Amino acid sequence: MSHSVVPVTLLFADGVSHRLAVPRGGRLVEAAIEAGLNLLTDCSNGQCGTCTAQLVSGAVELEDYDRAVLPDEDRACGAVLPCVCRVESACAIELPYDSTEALSEEPALTPAEVAAVERVASEVVRLEVKLAQALVFEPGQYVRITPAGADFHRSYSMANIPGTDRLQFFIRIVPGGAFSEWLATAQAGDQVALSTPRGTFFLRDESRPRLFVAGGTGVAPFLSMLRSMAAHLTPQRTTFVIGARTPGHLFALDELKALGEQIGGVELQIAVEHDAGAGCHAGYPTDVIPGLGLHPSTRVYLCGPPPMVEAGRKAAEAVGLRRADVLCERFV
Ligand SMILES: Cc1cc2nc3c(=O)[nH]c(=O)nc-3n(C[C@H](O)[C@H](O)[C@H](O)COP(=O)(O)OP(=O)(O)OC[C@H]3O[C@@H](n4cnc5c(N)ncnc54)[C@H](O)[C@@H]3O)c2cc1C
Ligand code: FES
Repeated sequence: MSHSVVPVTLLFADGVSHRLAVPRGGRLVEAAIEAGLNLLTDCSNGQCGTCTAQLVSGAVELEDYDRAVLPDEDRACGAVLPCVCRVESACAIELPYDSTEALSEEPALTPAEVAAVERVASEVVRLEVKLAQALVFEPGQYVRITPAGADFHRSYSMANIPGTDRLQFFIRIVPGGAFSEWLATAQAGDQVALSTPRGTFFLRDESRPRLFVAGGTGVAPFLSMLRSMAAHLTPQRTTFVIGARTPGHLFALDELKALGEQIGGVELQIAVEHDAGAGCHAGYPTDVIPGLGLHPSTRVYLCGPPPMVEAGRKAAEAVGLRRADVLCERFV
């Protein structure tokens, strides 16, 4: 091997490792593609944090990225964003997903038909799409949706239980947003194309307490998780804190309460920024974390706007939870 090519070992969660030869200074993702591996990414430019991995040894340079998705403290502890990695020396990188997920070639998009579009709360629309076949995914994952004829796609987390042919999404309407504008006129029968399910923010099958924190439509992946927990009867001490701007922005509350009772051991708390009524915290959902008395082994799941996710990470750390036990999904 010439001195300008360095070895990179990719360590996958299933224990499989792959060795790549990467030109010094070359892009990790490109070298992986040449070796037949598709590393899991979403934005591909350091803005979403979806691809976060752990550098175990060696050195990489990161191109431009958003410090909110990879804070300097995490970078100092070895966290990296493979989508913007340039390899500087022989290194080993741990990826939080199985090798089989990276081995498959990017599959063709799956056609689907809009089955329903319904406004369910202030600024929130429920989109339901129907597929020819049931879709298998991990509760908490997302797909990219491309409206027919559009040259863009956006990522949305499934709220339904895995393994059905109807997918449900809860989408915040963003003024001037491309997908939001499409959604404003979408109707039953319209066609869309879906990517395969993606993402590492999914329910871990483990017996320790859980804390779910959602901001706005960040509730969507937790609905999928709770529906799965209810279907598989896996009671687990779970605290779920939901945040919204006003009570009018909240959705699916009745179902969440019913799921909580069905599963058992689920405690639901609500925080709203404005017009908090009885039984609601006034403020952000992350303000609630210090008072929860969480067990040190709690696994934390944070999903919503990036500032909420960042505040949640800091709050979890401040009450003594391990950084490695906090999973994040940022809706960027
Ligand atoms: C993994 C993942 C999962 C997600 N899951 C969900 C989910 O379940 N539910 C959900 O609601 N969201 C989710 N999101 C967020 C979602 O993907 C979109 O980012 C969001 O819906 C906005 O899309 P949009 O096309 O409507 O807006 P965009 O077109 O992306 O626009 C966003 C903002 O930028 C502004 N803008 C756009 N173009 C320009 C321009 N040229 N100049 C200046 N400003 C501009 C728009 O006015 C708007 O304010 C997820 C994101 C990720 C990464
Ligand atoms: S895919 Fe790497 S940060 Fe978005």
